[in-house]
Amino acid sequence: MRTIGRGEDPAADRPGIGGGLLEAVRGRLAEAGAEPTPARVAMALRAEGRLLGDAEVLGVVSALRSEMTGSGPLEPLITAPDVTDVLVTAPDEVWVDRGGGLERTPVRFADEAAVRRLAQRLASVAGRRLDDARPWVDARLPDGTRLHAVLPPVAVAGTCLSLRVLRPRAFTLAELVAAGTVPPDGDRLLRAVLDARLSFLISGGTGSGKTTLLSSLLSLAGPAERLVLAEDSAELRPDHPHVVRLETRPANQEGAGRVTLRDLVRQALRMRPDRLVVGEVRGAEVTDLLAALNTGHEGGSGTVHANAPCDVPARLEALGSTAGLDRAALHSQLAAALSVVLHLVRDRSGRRRLAQVDVLERDGDGFVVTVPAAAWSAGGFQEAPGWRRLMNLCERGRGPE
Ligand SMILES: Nc1ncnc2c1ncn2[C@@H]1O[C@H](COP(=O)(O)OP(=O)(O)O)[C@@H](O)[C@H]1O
Ligand SMILES: [Mg+2]
Repeated sequence: MRTIGRGEDPAADRPGIGGGLLEAVRGRLAEAGAEPTPARVAMALRAEGRLLGDAEVLGVVSALRSEMTGSGPLEPLITAPDVTDVLVTAPDEVWVDRGGGLERTPVRFADEAAVRRLAQRLASVAGRRLDDARPWVDARLPDGTRLHAVLPPVAVAGTCLSLRVLRPRAFTLAELVAAGTVPPDGDRLLRAVLDARLSFLISGGTGSGKTTLLSSLLSLAGPAERLVLAEDSAELRPDHPHVVRLETRPANQEGAGRVTLRDLVRQALRMRPDRLVVGEVRGAEVTDLLAALNTGHEGGSGTVHANAPCDVPARLEALGSTAGLDRAALHSQLAAALSVVLHLVRDRSGRRRLAQVDVLERDGDGFVVTVPAAAWSAGGFQEAPGWRRLMNLCERGRGPE
């Protein structure tokens, strides 16, 4: 297990300053409605009958301040350049992912209450409630960080906090090649798919890098094209001059005002998109998306959760059935709507990589199946049976030169 530097120590770890004392000082300052300045903290400590040196007082000040602003003891983790995920499973169990799988860090919270306070404060920054009546939250913080938290007793062992740090810009395709995510010979293929304006879905498991790859690919769209993005949580950050971003929202406390992905796809279609993008296809919006791709909206794209490319048709079927679209209807739309599936995997070392590119074909019964066209494994690139079809699609899409 590797560890990561902790930056500033939470004061609760310092000798002589226990969580109890911190709690008492916090309480006194809260009563007075005062900011934690060194003078006030020193006063509050004296009132608690404790005399501490300057360094300790400053330690308490910095612990209290980081609780009130930013992400408390998680701040140094979140701001580290290579950290993508910060996960808290217990006050003394804080994990990060820096691209190589989860690593435990030495960062500690004073106690369970401190984790809960941070989760609730972050939720309120995102304009959401998190309490016993609504014990989980899935929201985006103003800086783009994705917040998920669950309180006990739903989270059996205590407050669980997951933060996904948003990169300020998309990786370029060259960076993804350098990182080993896109194989060197995959670069040209992906560009050809984009240039031909083929509609595609990126499939893979959770955290396999689907959204990240989609951002990078959308950055390759022609500068004269208008991209309209519909997302549950605005995560895509294509580096492109013309992007319209739409985001769903939950109902307010009176149960009104909910905006679904399906609403967004319908609105997006009226906004003259050159490329309609559904961040993650996860529900009834699949029907609107397929209908759109069938009616002249080429070049659409999105991501979908699937553990293998061959599972994509069944996954879309399941999603379509939630909107009352039957299997035969879905498959007949799918065949015309979607051209390519790009599949990502996360291998055992934690590296995310493009593993396979599939094309879609109808089988003898008219159902859509995926056919591998290109695959990359430890042994390198392999052409697969769908290769010719993929090349034809790319040629046709580009039109006569
Ligand atoms: N190729 C990559 N190299 C390094 N980090 C990556 C890469 N792809 C994705 N990530 C990081 O992994 C996390 C999950 O990626 P994301 O694209 O959101 O996955 P998914 O959409 O499949 O759930 C993000 O924090 C992202 O910044
Ligand atoms: Mg995603």
